[in-house]
Amino acid sequence: MFKFKESIKAITPYAPGKPVKEVERELGILNPLKLASNENAWGFSPKVKKAMEETIKEANIYPDGNSFYLRKRIAEFHNVHIDNVMTGNGSNEVIEIVMRTVLDKGYNTVASEYSFAIYKIITQACGAEYRATKAKKNYQFDADAIIKACDKNTAIIVIDNPNNPTGTYLPVQEMLKIAKFAKENSIMLISDEAYVEYIRAKDYSSMMDYLKDFDNLVVTRTYSKAYGMAGLRLGYAVANKEIIDICNRIREAFNVGIITQHAGIAALDDQNFVKEVVKKTHEGIDYIYGALEEMGLKYIPTECNFILVEVPHSSVDSFNKLLRFGIIVRPLHGYGLKNHIRLSVGSMEENKKAIEAIRSHLK
Ligand SMILES: Cc1ncc(COP(=O)(O)O)c(C=O)c1O
Repeated sequence: MFKFKESIKAITPYAPGKPVKEVERELGILNPLKLASNENAWGFSPKVKKAMEETIKEANIYPDGNSFYLRKRIAEFHNVHIDNVMTGNGSNEVIEIVMRTVLDKGYNTVASEYSFAIYKIITQACGAEYRATKAKKNYQFDADAIIKACDKNTAIIVIDNPNNPTGTYLPVQEMLKIAKFAKENSIMLISDEAYVEYIRAKDYSSMMDYLKDFDNLVVTRTYSKAYGMAGLRLGYAVANKEIIDICNRIREAFNVGIITQHAGIAALDDQNFVKEVVKKTHEGIDYIYGALEEMGLKYIPTECNFILVEVPHSSVDSFNKLLRFGIIVRPLHGYGLKNHIRLSVGSMEENKKAIEAIRSHLK
């Protein structure tokens, strides 16, 4: 038998939220409520629907391999040049392409504990070392610890900001401290901003505003959350031209489908839809905060579209208990959070259903 790479054998696979169909199949529960993958309860913009319907007839031809018009629209949206933009099959693919351009055996990635699980998997797949620094007591990342963990073999610092699964964020001054250090030490800095639309904190700033100052900076964004297009798979990176140019050498030729490219343009054209989604998400968060406080359950204040709740039982027990009552949440033991479940914010009706289940079965 041939030998698999040891670095790949050592990887713990990513555990996605349990799919609705799987719960129906395995437990016989019809129409369970999935609040496990931070999806958008309000779907996507009608403009996106129209763009997709109009493009279906083109599905027999290959898409534009360079996603020209989509990248042009993204570039306009962020006021950068089209050469600064790369699109991908979700921001997950984009992050993977970017990380693969610099990681190799002997190098390392530095991130905080509780960061999005994919960074570790990509690092290990590249044969490199993943270093996770301790977070602060309030679960916020510790910028000084991150800087301290770097050495001459550090190729990447990756900051999930705001972070999944904790919902915490790093204020702009802390991010800038890391960015300056990374630049001085020729380290790539990835700012993963998958949840940026939901931010309410006044001392947060997207690193999109600092691209001109840092040629080592890559900012990634997704259409999967506030734009409600997780199933279409679309994300992008904005960075200096040299980084994007290198990424394009390993990017799969047709990595964004033709329907997705048109949908991505239409989605940016409907910012009112995004505003409405964010408003309703914030109303949901405030309702859930109130209900949890009433029950005496602790939670981590969030800047995303989900809330980490501290539960009286173990994370897995709580997940299973809620599952039996048709609510799918995400257990977080895999992140070392043994008494937390992550609850995505849904429509108000869904939030109320989830809170009722927590009140009846967990409290
Ligand atoms: C922090 C973070 N980054 C990136 C992603 C990847 O999203 P996608 O590949 O759907 O764009 C996710 C998905 O949940 C995420 O939470």
